[in-house]
Amino acid sequence: MKIAVLRETADAENRVAATPETVRKLIGLGAELAIEAGAGAGAAIADAAYAEAGATVADRAATIAAADLVLGVQGPAVADLPGIKSGAMLAAILSPFGDRGRIDDYAKAGVTALSMEFMPRITRAQSMDVLSSQSNLAGYKSVIDAAEAYGRAFPMMMTAAGTISAARVFIMGVGVAGLQAIATARRLGALVSATDVRSAVKEQIESLGAKAIFVENVKGIEGEGAGGYATEMSDEYKAAQAALVSSHIAKQDIVITTALIPGRPAPRLITDAQIASMRPGSIIVDLAVESGGNVEGSRMGEIVTVHGVKIIGHKNAAGRLAADASALYSRNLFNLINAFWDKDAKTLAFPADDEIVVGIKLTEGGAVVHERLRAG
Ligand code: NAI
Repeated sequence: MKIAVLRETADAENRVAATPETVRKLIGLGAELAIEAGAGAGAAIADAAYAEAGATVADRAATIAAADLVLGVQGPAVADLPGIKSGAMLAAILSPFGDRGRIDDYAKAGVTALSMEFMPRITRAQSMDVLSSQSNLAGYKSVIDAAEAYGRAFPMMMTAAGTISAARVFIMGVGVAGLQAIATARRLGALVSATDVRSAVKEQIESLGAKAIFVENVKGIEGEGAGGYATEMSDEYKAAQAALVSSHIAKQDIVITTALIPGRPAPRLITDAQIASMRPGSIIVDLAVESGGNVEGSRMGEIVTVHGVKIIGHKNAAGRLAADASALYSRNLFNLINAFWDKDAKTLAFPADDEIVVGIKLTEGGAVVHERLRAG
């Protein structure tokens, strides 16, 4: 089986879908690897390191030619897959809800598209879960970005010149990114609080040494839906949450928002009036900016100052730690391939009825086959 790894072309994308470590492992399975020249540059991996691991390094057309499986980080346009053969597979973070037309194009080109972010959240697939591996790093980096932009220190310091008080950090949305943000802010010495719509998270927040800020006594409080993800909340809940957050946010130095609802725009959690209530010099990091944003006025790819508060809206937070993000993402891909590898035939064998296969396969045989896309 021939596996091709592309150089990413998307703006602000420094990650790569294979590392020399995973190249070696894939070759160990019996695959042939071709890497597009320069693919690892953004993640500090030289072409020579891939060649040493046993891959062929070539230009894009030669890399894709004859490939049975193409690995990417973000979904490339079909025009960027010159000569891809009909029946080839493509595994990447394909954002089908962000760009449906591109998925239809894969189908027309006969490409079997596998969307890594659709990986089901089941125990067997944990090691293949790219949302987890990337969100964890994004949560860490959001705190580092906030600390960098904040004109004060995080920990309390008692010095001969007087005492500096600890930064107050509030995390909104405590999934994988939020948990890592809590842990990172705590390590830096901040006083941390956090909120979520899923009440199951309360204990996790407290076990990390942070204060849980939760809406109580409101109908429809249990915000957990399918697969452990959040659901859209009732209007009554939203009003109670806004009131609770308003009084809390005014006392915070740093707010990090990570709230997402699968298949929908990110919920709006912070209004302009709430930003105005914060002390000038405070920082907000909107990790949901690419899904529409949790914060009024945040702008994708920009740092804006509103009412003296800096709102950080970096794109691709995980990609800002490209070496680690690539290492984890590549292992997610390897774990998928390894789980479905036919050792005798030395190729991938995806049983059509497997829960993972059904979960990630968007297109096959010229058609869009995924239930969530056919319905939409
Ligand atoms: P996510 O990235 O979809 O959302 C981030 C957080 O925002 C979630 O905790 C969500 O509840 C919260 N949120 C949504 N709307 C909100 C609102 N209006 N106000 C406040 N918070 C809001 O979530 P992520 O990180 O993907 O995690 C979701 C769950 O899945 C977690 O419980 C996680 O532990 C679990 N999980 C399970 C895995 C497995 O079993 N294989 C793998 C990874 C995560």
